[in-house]
Amino acid sequence: MRIEHLYLQDFRNYERAEFAPCEAITILVGSNAAGKTNLVEAVQTLTTTESFRRPRWEDLVRWGRPRAEVGLKASGVSSAAELRLGVDADGTREFFVNGTRKRRVADVVGVVPSVVFTPDDLLMVKGSAERRRAAADAVAAQLWPAYKTARREYAKVLRQRNALLKEEAGGDQAAAWDERLVELGARVTAYRCRLLSSFEPELTAAHGRLAGDERLRIEYADRSGLDPGSWRSQPEADSIEEALRAELGRRRADERARRATLVGPHRDDIVFLIDDRDARAFGSQGQQRTVALAWKTSEIAVVRGTTGRSPVLLLDDVMSELDEGRRARLLDTVVSDIQTIVTTTNIGYFDERTLADAEVVRL
Ligand SMILES: Nc1ncnc2c1ncn2[C@@H]1O[C@H](COP(=O)(O)OP(=O)(O)O)[C@@H](O)[C@H]1O
Ligand SMILES: [Mg+2]
Repeated sequence: MRIEHLYLQDFRNYERAEFAPCEAITILVGSNAAGKTNLVEAVQTLTTTESFRRPRWEDLVRWGRPRAEVGLKASGVSSAAELRLGVDADGTREFFVNGTRKRRVADVVGVVPSVVFTPDDLLMVKGSAERRRAAADAVAAQLWPAYKTARREYAKVLRQRNALLKEEAGGDQAAAWDERLVELGARVTAYRCRLLSSFEPELTAAHGRLAGDERLRIEYADRSGLDPGSWRSQPEADSIEEALRAELGRRRADERARRATLVGPHRDDIVFLIDDRDARAFGSQGQQRTVALAWKTSEIAVVRGTTGRSPVLLLDDVMSELDEGRRARLLDTVVSDIQTIVTTTNIGYFDERTLADAEVVRL
């Protein structure tokens, strides 16, 4: 998909702004606090229904104003769509697709797919497991709208169950949530298996293009009691349920002692192995960043392959975080055939060839 028109009204620091991003690459140049990340956030929130900055909704509304709006028109090979988001100062929000209000996020996510890449994403290999789960969740939610629903329901059940486990002698009541936890946990885990098994070949290939002769593969470190390596054969939720139920039984005493749910996809991790060594523990900063870059590049391919729609790529200020070689390779992969919106403080990061195809907008 390509965004043809974009407007922001009282969104963050923007009073009123309109953009017509060009087909290939639009470079937004601005100094600090000019509103670069805000603009990326606007597009990302509108297309995925969630800001990567995780603000309260009311924070998106320009200070002192009653309502923020963001809207875009996009078209692709076989479809066109208009998206609009309104957020009121009290935090209530509404999404519209082609003029119709959509109450379910699943009806909005993925209509215009997007892939966002920020300096924070460069920490995905080194950072906590939560970051890696969030990275996987973000992709899965765009591929399968039902994933987002399952993930959210699972989080709710987990909260209830953990709250009961926290209470003195709450263990028995917590057990009432076991079946729901198993059912939803298995569904989330099944999607993750499916995601990672289709992701891995793309990731290995993308990494090969960036890193030459090093070989990257992943392991899905599930906490649902699956047999090692079985995620690659994309097990169905039914068979995961059994494993999860057994694992829950096995860890019951631990859970009571530690007063928390220890089993299930909220404790999963993704391990990146470069030539069979854990990149988190042994990779240099450069190697870890290359893995993150490869992840984002594959995200584009996987989203396109699964949904049949090209995502819009949003690069927020990542050029300054990369060395010259990685900058060049990133630009090589993006400039091809995908609409890209990139922000920067310094136009000097872009080579002649990129600039020839690009439109430069000063904020
Ligand atoms: N709700 C809001 N209303 C008005 N201004 C805001 C709001 N939220 C953030 N800002 C302002 O936006 C500016 C930062 O924009 P940002 O896009 O993060 O800058 P950068 O160009 O450095 O990425 C800050 O000056 C901040 O105070
Ligand atoms: Mg910024």
